[in-house]
Amino acid sequence: MTLQRNIIHLGDALQLINEVEDESIDLIVCDGPYGVTDNEWDRIPNIQEYNLDLIKRFSAKLKDGGALYLFGKPNCIDFIDYRPYLNLKSKIVWYQPSRLAQGRVNYTNNYDIICYFVKGSRPRCYNLDSIRVAQLVELEHRLRCERVPSVKNGKYGKTKFNGKGKNPGDVWGDIKQLTYKSKELVCREALNTIQKPIKLMERLVLASSNPGDLVLDPFSGVGTCPAVCKRNGRDFTGFEINVEFVKLANARLKCVEAQLPLGI
Ligand SMILES: C[S@@+](CC[C@H](N)C(=O)[O-])C[C@H]1O[C@@H](n2cnc3c(N)ncnc32)[C@H](O)[C@@H]1O
Repeated sequence: MTLQRNIIHLGDALQLINEVEDESIDLIVCDGPYGVTDNEWDRIPNIQEYNLDLIKRFSAKLKDGGALYLFGKPNCIDFIDYRPYLNLKSKIVWYQPSRLAQGRVNYTNNYDIICYFVKGSRPRCYNLDSIRVAQLVELEHRLRCERVPSVKNGKYGKTKFNGKGKNPGDVWGDIKQLTYKSKELVCREALNTIQKPIKLMERLVLASSNPGDLVLDPFSGVGTCPAVCKRNGRDFTGFEINVEFVKLANARLKCVEAQLPLGI
């Protein structure tokens, strides 16, 4: 049986995944349990083993070259061997300097990790031009640098600068975590542990899928990734266990349909 597209299915992702056809998905955005909060769904005794199980089961659903982004805390894939299933291309640091919690006996953790995996050696797509960010270095200095050769693989090559902006790199400090003042926040309950910024999800979707592709969001929450997919001409399949979140997500999808701003 094939699950209907462009719907957020209410239920347990770990069961619903069995209904997804093998090698049918272009991109998986997996923003599930972090194993750090008191939410019932987040009480995972061993988050690394949990993530390994997800990687194993979800990777079977990816097409060759498909990407999987896994969200978590810095230790989310420590000491597990994901290599039989996926290649880890980058560990993106989502830097959140304004986090309010302050450690007293250790350095405050102020970043999440987004593990970028690819099935096979080469990604089906990496749409750099869709995700370029502003250059930080002023134009005059950049032009001066262009005339200076840089060393790569033992050869000399020219540093190329692109007028449309630069690669966002693997430390993302330009996307702020939502606050209770954010226009896009759908409800107070979604603050902190649930809702991710549209800009963050959009960067992943634009980079690693093309229009018409199928994106799986197994932990849809209030539907940020599905809404981004719909807005950018990607198909999606969503799973979410909380019926209230599914309702909020559906309302956001309606906003996209009506070409209204993504905020309720
Ligand atoms: C971090 S939130 C995802 C938020 C989402 N990216 C957004 O921006 O709204 C994780 C979500 O996964 C859901 N969830 C947790 N375990 C689940 C499971 N086994 N099956 C389906 N949904 C689950 C939770 O209810 C929660 O809404």
